[in-house]
Amino acid sequence: MRTPMIAGNWKMYKTAREAAEVLRALRALVEGATNVDVCVCPPYTALLAAVEAAKGSRIQVGAQDCHWEKEGAFTGEVSVPMLADLGVGCVIVGHSERRQHFGETDATVDKKIGAVLAHGLSCIGCLGETLQEREAGQTLAVLERQVKGGFARHLSAPRLVIAYEPVWAIGTGKTATPTQAEEAHAFLRQLVGQLAGPAVAGSIRILYGGSVKPDNIAALMAQPNLDGALVGGASLDPNSFAKIVKFRG
Ligand code: PGA
Repeated sequence: MRTPMIAGNWKMYKTAREAAEVLRALRALVEGATNVDVCVCPPYTALLAAVEAAKGSRIQVGAQDCHWEKEGAFTGEVSVPMLADLGVGCVIVGHSERRQHFGETDATVDKKIGAVLAHGLSCIGCLGETLQEREAGQTLAVLERQVKGGFARHLSAPRLVIAYEPVWAIGTGKTATPTQAEEAHAFLRQLVGQLAGPAVAGSIRILYGGSVKPDNIAALMAQPNLDGALVGGASLDPNSFAKIVKFRG
């Protein structure tokens, strides 16, 4: 069966010192949570402090982005081997904020997922429709385009995790209903089956992201095709993130 994963995306919040404090509190709070993978993704500048504070715990530290080349003249960028060298185990790729504000495309998502997997790290690849696309009835077509353009070549890699994050639900307090999320997840799993076969469709983890909170996680996780969550705002506080990690109660 698929082990659930709860990942925290801290976005552009927390200094190195603050990150270490949160990690120290969090590791004690989630120690007893078994059969769930836990990952926290601080900004680049806090990664080393976070890795050190999480050492020996069940928490994996992840990055929020990367470049696809291993080195080169790319001012401001950070490569996957550089992240691996710090002890980072996971990288988020293709978050909608990167797509919206920093020109990320399905083609760059494809290259970045390939680089993360080639260097042996886990990858949380994000996709999801905007409100306008949902209202125009294009949700499933958008998801299909994003999977085919960014994910298709990598689907059979066991370290690839998909995160469905409807853009209208991110940071807005408007969570997708469990039924809306399940519809998208079921569609994605069926599409993965078409592209990579039933074994991959059965084993790939699909996380939901967008205003996940301690009080809505259980209903979301009750859906058969939801395998975890990518949590933004509610992951910044160790107590609320730990409650989400312990969604089984
Ligand atoms: P949110 O963010 O939980 O604050 O809506 C989720 C995300 O952007 O991954």
